[in-house]
Amino acid sequence: MASKVSLTRYLVEQQRVNGLIPAQLRLLLEVVARSCKSISQAVNKGALGGVLGTAESENVQGEIQKKLDIIANEVLIEANEWGGNLAAMASEEMEGIYVVPNRYPQGEYLLLFDPLDGSSNIDVNVSIGTIFSVLRKPEGSQVSEQDFLQAGSKQVAAGYCVYGPQTTLVLTVGNGVAMFTLDREQGSFVLTQENVQVPADTQEFAINMSNMRHWDAPIKRYVDECLAGKEGPRGKDFNMRWIASMVADVHRILTRGGIFMYPWDKREPTKPGKLRLMYEANPMGWLIEQAGGAATNGKERILAINPTQLHQRVSVILGSKNEVERVTGYHS
Ligand code: AHG
Ligand code: MN
Ligand code: MN
Repeated sequence: MASKVSLTRYLVEQQRVNGLIPAQLRLLLEVVARSCKSISQAVNKGALGGVLGTAESENVQGEIQKKLDIIANEVLIEANEWGGNLAAMASEEMEGIYVVPNRYPQGEYLLLFDPLDGSSNIDVNVSIGTIFSVLRKPEGSQVSEQDFLQAGSKQVAAGYCVYGPQTTLVLTVGNGVAMFTLDREQGSFVLTQENVQVPADTQEFAINMSNMRHWDAPIKRYVDECLAGKEGPRGKDFNMRWIASMVADVHRILTRGGIFMYPWDKREPTKPGKLRLMYEANPMGWLIEQAGGAATNGKERILAINPTQLHQRVSVILGSKNEVERVTGYHS
């Protein structure tokens, strides 16, 4: 029987055989995976662990924090600050960057994360996740927020962990997308799919339809055409899914294709969208591209956007290539 490949072995091979990742990045990814394991434990305990419900605080986005948003953020900070692989971290749940304290050695990398994605699903026992993105710290002086403002194309690793019926870690280091399932008995992530591919065509779209009246014309046109089905201009029927956890929606798309959209809308016209570029759209955009799909904001490739703010928002259209190109084309 072929032996199982653990995440550890996969990463060692990426380092050794493919020369893709230096040891420091490999160790950093091991720590991120360990944090996800620990968050997964907390998620699994649910009410028994007292982790459900709302905390009495707001984050920098003005959103009420859930207890698990805070717990997951702390787990990631505590696990990653002492290893010597990182210079600083940034999170959806922290206004400024978190510089590795002086008592620990500083590494060459920057880690960004959405510690708990899909917060509205925590209390209702629906899939949620953690999203992460790794950048290299630019050479030179003291680490600053400016160092984080790099385009998504500069990421050196990205991924997410989905806490669903199974806990699955999905990762790219620029050599395709691999999926690892948590084996709770062994306590390790085991490679369960390599070379993940998103089919170029799909008949499934994901968008929060309740916002329809606020959308811009190109998005309305695309969804109207999907809804028209066989009798409409597309000549085929479409199915719809919306989980309200980006991790879970993207996981479905990586598994069987589809298109995900969280576009700009008229509710808050000054904001470019709801989702955050640096720790939601960039890592997910890169994963989707690495699996042969596409990711744009309707005008340009997500990964080409030069960020100006840590918590900047962005319009997101990602998934099966031909559909993303169609929606992007409707914008021009
Ligand atoms: P977060 O829980 O990290 O704030 O992110 C939630 C995001 C994303 O995961 C999801 O696709 C979207 O918000 C859902 O938004 P709606 O509730 O507006 O549908
Ligand atoms: Mn999120
Ligand atoms: Mn979040």
